[in-house]
Amino acid sequence: MLARFRSSLIWQLFAVLVLLLALSAGVFALLATAIGQQRDAAEDAGRAERAVAAAGELERVVIDMETGVRGYLIAGDEGFLKPYRRALDGRGVAAARLIDASTTRRTRAAATAIEDGMNAYVEDYLMPLLAKAQVSLSAARDEVRQGEGKRRVTALRSRFERLEADEEQFAAGKRAMAGEQADRAIAIAIGALVGSALLLALLGLYAHRTVIVPVRRLAGTADRIAAGDLTARVPKAEQATELGQTGRAFNSMAGSLERAAEVAREADRSKDEFIALVSHELRTPLTSIVGYVELLDEDAATPEPALDPAERRRFLEVINRNARRLLRLVGELLFVARVDAGGLDLDRERVELREVVADSVEAAHPAAEEAGVKLQAEVDGVPAIDGDSGRLGQAVDNLLSNAIKFTPRGGLVSVRARSAGEEALISVSDTGVGIPAADQARLFERFFRASSARSGHTPGVGLGLVITRAIVEGHGGRLELESEAGAGATFTLHFPLA
Ligand SMILES: Nc1ncnc2c1ncn2[C@@H]1O[C@H](COP(=O)(O)OP(=O)(O)OP(=O)(O)O)[C@@H](O)[C@H]1O
Ligand SMILES: [Mg+2]
Repeated sequence: MLARFRSSLIWQLFAVLVLLLALSAGVFALLATAIGQQRDAAEDAGRAERAVAAAGELERVVIDMETGVRGYLIAGDEGFLKPYRRALDGRGVAAARLIDASTTRRTRAAATAIEDGMNAYVEDYLMPLLAKAQVSLSAARDEVRQGEGKRRVTALRSRFERLEADEEQFAAGKRAMAGEQADRAIAIAIGALVGSALLLALLGLYAHRTVIVPVRRLAGTADRIAAGDLTARVPKAEQATELGQTGRAFNSMAGSLERAAEVAREADRSKDEFIALVSHELRTPLTSIVGYVELLDEDAATPEPALDPAERRRFLEVINRNARRLLRLVGELLFVARVDAGGLDLDRERVELREVVADSVEAAHPAAEEAGVKLQAEVDGVPAIDGDSGRLGQAVDNLLSNAIKFTPRGGLVSVRARSAGEEALISVSDTGVGIPAADQARLFERFFRASSARSGHTPGVGLGLVITRAIVEGHGGRLELESEAGAGATFTLHFPLA
């Protein structure tokens, strides 16, 4: 069951779809991580750049304070302190911005240290210096000359440089990483494109092999059959797929068609044979009748008839015999036509088979004598059955007529009626030509005559046995045959006992 499911096209299609889905999900996941990492790296680089900018800004604050104070001390004009005061107000925000933008623990620590250094510079140096200047400008100028302020600013500036260098290095690293991730994403996308193109090509090849080629084979075979070649078959229809199945179904249909055509040809042949046979069987007695009637007519027309009464009587007997033969043939044809039309009317009554057999044997005596065949009957202990005595007699007549017809001069025909178990049996045996095994199977086909009958030019059309079997079966019984070529034949009628 599972194996059949696996070999079905639907399953294969489903499997391919699942595979494609899994592959695209994998590619999507790879792409998403690469792009995510690229975005993170770019963001980090951006933050480091912002930190560098914030460091520059804070450095300007320090410089503004230093130059403001220096200008005031040199010129003694309070107006120079304006940038100092602005820087003093803004230093907290600028320092917080730098700490916030710092990317690593190291640079954050450096930023905090810068803020502390800057605050110390303001509170421990600039503010006391300005307070001193309020009292004496020259004392303040002396203090400046000591170099403490310059040293502190230089120290702060070198810290700024280090921090900026750190952040720039960090930013460069992150930018490189972002670039690598972007390259990776492009590589994945190209790989996925090439991979799916390959996969699609493979799928196309596979579909070609499993769908298109078999469908073409099917169409080609259908064309050949349509053109009249009924021997055409779908090649390689053994595949387990739906199309293989279709091919096999198609082949079996083609087989049925071929057989049907053969049967139709055969039917045509037997119809032709039948027409030839029936024409011949009708013509022979009719020719004889016409011939003898003309003879009698000519003789009657002459003033002195040449035929004596005995001859005239013999002619009339020939005419009578042939007319009866015609009547029998027409009767047989009508009977078969009636059976074909579905109706075998039986006048059922209690029938003594003993009497039926005795009547048939008596009627066959003249023919047996003429053929030089000994006829014997053995009837005892046969029960009566429910049936049509006329038709039963016809069945036995046919068997007896055959037995006498196909037994050479000096032979023996014996009829036996008895009961066996739940059946009444009537058998007709002869020591005649028998029936070749090859012909026995077809013996009950209408108009069939065994090779022995055809080669021996024995008269008949091949309806007797068909009629006999129809009668026996109409009575719920069956007809059996035992024979060997050259060793006689035995036909047995089996009737069920009611
Ligand atoms: N007892 C027999 N011995 C040998 N062959 C027989 C015997 N009975 C029947 N056959 C073969 O079976 C064929 C069919 O028999 P069937 O009675 O149907 O036809 P028929 O005798 O040829 O013609 P008819 O329609 O006149 O009876 C015969 O032509 C003959 O070849
Ligand atoms: Mg017959």
